[in-house]
Amino acid sequence: MNLSDRPRRNRKSAAVRALMRETSLSASHLIYPMFVQEGQENTPIASLPGCTRWCVADIAAECRRLYELGIQCVDLFAVVPEEKKDAAGSEAWNPQGVVPRAIEAIKAAVPEMCVMTDVALDPFNTYGQDGIVREYEGGAYEILNDETVEALCKQALCHARAGADIISPSDMMDGRVAAIRAALDAEGFTKVSILSYTAKYASAFYGPFRGALGSAPKFGDKKTYQMDPANRREAVREALADAAEGADMLMVKPATMYLDVIAELRRCSNLPIAAYHVSGEYLMIKAAAASGWLDERSCMLESLLSIRRAGADMILTYAAPQVAAWLAETPVN
Ligand code: PBG
Repeated sequence: MNLSDRPRRNRKSAAVRALMRETSLSASHLIYPMFVQEGQENTPIASLPGCTRWCVADIAAECRRLYELGIQCVDLFAVVPEEKKDAAGSEAWNPQGVVPRAIEAIKAAVPEMCVMTDVALDPFNTYGQDGIVREYEGGAYEILNDETVEALCKQALCHARAGADIISPSDMMDGRVAAIRAALDAEGFTKVSILSYTAKYASAFYGPFRGALGSAPKFGDKKTYQMDPANRREAVREALADAAEGADMLMVKPATMYLDVIAELRRCSNLPIAAYHVSGEYLMIKAAAASGWLDERSCMLESLLSIRRAGADMILTYAAPQVAAWLAETPVN
């Protein structure tokens, strides 16, 4: 054949492929979500194999190990016992709660570690909803927006006072980024960043996470605040709003089913983009690998690389420690 254009020339050897590679994946792109609980025990999480509910005393030592693996940011989630939950979710801003204590412990042990915290009420209120619930006769209910935003500001301040570097509101209430920014600034926390869950979809892939926290909604669903999986333009609307309200970074969640949304936000904003490779996405690969149906390492790396290729700067993933260890052996090729 007389071909002047032979794209295979650019794939002819590992060295040439390395020169042509458009996207990279390294431990510095990863954020590790971690669960922290009361008491002295660390409990493995059956619904998220490889993950643990850490006690405050041990999470700091684990963060030292993670930092040495190259993971420079962790995201903290509280596991709250039923007896500490109430209708308002007031444990969320208890300065003696597990999250503020864990932030202090991690900062004391590994000051270089960037500590991010999740801000939302679902692990803390009796309803398992991200906001404050008003119940009506006949079983109807509403998730109150403005009242919830006030509570989120208290939670964000509680984390900032304990030393959090990044506040990450995952609740999807309107106006919360501006309100949290103002609350932080009013107390002098101008350096505390906000990573907004900008396009968080009402996804079935959160199931294993809710099992890990015991935070599944007691009734109803989250569709009046989390986004409809059918929508992409709406994600742009949310992104423009969050940017105008002062978000430092925008997030798309889940990740692999929403690569088009990541690419869209990458195009319409200059803010850094995060993507959350959620519990169900992680578990699909773990389960298929445990059955011998997929190769865990190559499928996990390919999934995370595809999220980077779509335009994400950083990825929250439960696979972070494992991936960091794999990448230390051999970079993605
Ligand atoms: C709730 C929250 C959820 C996740 C992170 N924060 C679940 C939900 O919205 O119900 C999901 C994370 C995952 O599935 O890995 N504020």
